[in-house]
Amino acid sequence: MTTHQDHRRQEAAKPLRSRAATGAATMFTEYRTFFATAVRNPRMVGAATPTSAAVAATVAQVVPTTGTPVVVELGPGTGSLSNGIRERLPAGARHIGIELGADLAEHLREHKPWMEVIHGNAGDLLSLLDERGIGKVDAVISSIPWSLLPDEEQDHILKQTTEALAPNAAFTALTYLPADRTAGGRRFRVRLAETFDEVLTHTTWRNLPPILHYLCRRPF
Ligand SMILES: C[S@@+](CC[C@H](N)C(=O)[O-])C[C@H]1O[C@@H](n2cnc3c(N)ncnc32)[C@H](O)[C@@H]1O
Repeated sequence: MTTHQDHRRQEAAKPLRSRAATGAATMFTEYRTFFATAVRNPRMVGAATPTSAAVAATVAQVVPTTGTPVVVELGPGTGSLSNGIRERLPAGARHIGIELGADLAEHLREHKPWMEVIHGNAGDLLSLLDERGIGKVDAVISSIPWSLLPDEEQDHILKQTTEALAPNAAFTALTYLPADRTAGGRRFRVRLAETFDEVLTHTTWRNLPPILHYLCRRPF
């Protein structure tokens, strides 16, 4: 099996032009897969393009670098946040991606073979973890379209998430800046404040549209 480190060594050994061509081809495949799913199912995806490297770098900061953590990504899409998460994870960690889109889950299995990809719904988080022998997790990184979710679904997925979090674990959520001003976006912000003792926000402007990050800890 090729490890992530082997892959990185192989990539580094290639001439610069060949590496640039591989990177461009991968990015093109990601955009095409993402865009095709977004066109078919705009409410499920909630975006036209994957998030930028700047967003991924911010998100990855909550990933523990020691021990044997379990990190869950809700809605990894084509995996634009996943490499940054993977790079910080220590050996023995588990990186689980729960993706609702069948084509996107297939794409992840092919292109991110190190991730445990589940084709499933974030709303079934606890049972999906239970089936894999996991009780609590150390971080949940979510980029599902929270502000487009109906009230009960927002509530249900958030409850599943808080029950899955270990003490001191982090929960992060991404929303687009304009979406944050909608009724669903405002509802989500209030719900986070009612659910967590600590809610921090950060904006990444180097994304179109800009992204508002929520970083939450210590559910009540
Ligand atoms: C805005 S995209 C984000 C994709 C990627 N993480 C990124 O940052 O570019 C939202 C993703 O969440 C997935 N999704 C939406 N609802 C979901 C749910 N209930 N459970 C799991 N995935 C879901 C969509 O299929 C889509 O891939």
